[in-house]
Amino acid sequence: MDLQLAGRVVIITGGASGIGRATAGYFQREGARLVLADLQPAALATAVAELRAAGGEVESEAVDVRDYGACERLVARTVDAFGRIDALVNSAGIGGVPMLFAETSPRDWQDLVAINLVGVMNCCRAVADRMIAQRSGRIINLASEAGKGNEKRIVVYGATKGGVISLTRGLAVELGRYGITVNAVCPGVTRTPMTSYITDEMEREWARMYPLGRLGQVDDIAPLIVFLASAHASWITGQAISVSGGFGRS
Ligand SMILES: NC(=O)c1ccc[n+]([C@@H]2O[C@H](COP(=O)([O-])OP(=O)(O)OC[C@H]3O[C@@H](n4cnc5c(N)ncnc54)[C@H](O)[C@@H]3O)[C@@H](O)[C@H]2O)c1
Repeated sequence: MDLQLAGRVVIITGGASGIGRATAGYFQREGARLVLADLQPAALATAVAELRAAGGEVESEAVDVRDYGACERLVARTVDAFGRIDALVNSAGIGGVPMLFAETSPRDWQDLVAINLVGVMNCCRAVADRMIAQRSGRIINLASEAGKGNEKRIVVYGATKGGVISLTRGLAVELGRYGITVNAVCPGVTRTPMTSYITDEMEREWARMYPLGRLGQVDDIAPLIVFLASAHASWITGQAISVSGGFGRS
């Protein structure tokens, strides 16, 4: 199946690590042109060098998605470099420290909300005018299975991801008339630097909650993101799609 992504211009926030970095590789192999945005300049430089060595047309921008002005500069940089924006993948996010809600204070929530929810809003708003003018675009937001069900010790994280799902649905309704689709991908627990605290013993224990008997890998998640940006997903919008080994069904 030809995904018709050759030459398409894709911004990936959180593109220096984990799911965002893996997704960049899949897009690059489809011939898409990429702008990776991340807080970590060194990891960004490594990702860009690797993708270019593989033949990719890749630019990068150090961006803190909490800063709306930085998100606007990212959009301007992308248009300068490539003349258009076909897709935005919002993968920048943090997990926070697992804690019972009653043991947290507002200080513990600030970055979770500012990055995981407001950061996604910032990037969506920053690309919206351009995509509306083009009468086309794809927005793919990384939410989480925790945004659907939520769980102990990650209550605020889950709330930010529930917010991302709601944002996705609302934006899909507003932007559909311009040919823009907006979808959320909801991974179950996936092995990335964000989940590097998971020990082998925890992995064995947690895998029992997944009918498919294992935790996720980035290669389980990235292909769906790429498909949602492809020509074949033009009638899918406002969805929050789980990629989670059947988590929650026992
Ligand atoms: N790994 C999982 O188990 C899992 C499960 C469900 C959802 N998710 C979501 O998927 C997305 C990617 O997670 P991951 O596991 O690849 O994590 P990761 O830590 O490997 O990558 C996240 C990237 O986001 C960047 N980032 C963090 N704050 C930023 C900011 N303010 N501005 C710009 N960039 C910033 C980090 O530098 C990092 O490169 C996140 O939104 C996460 O919540 C992950």
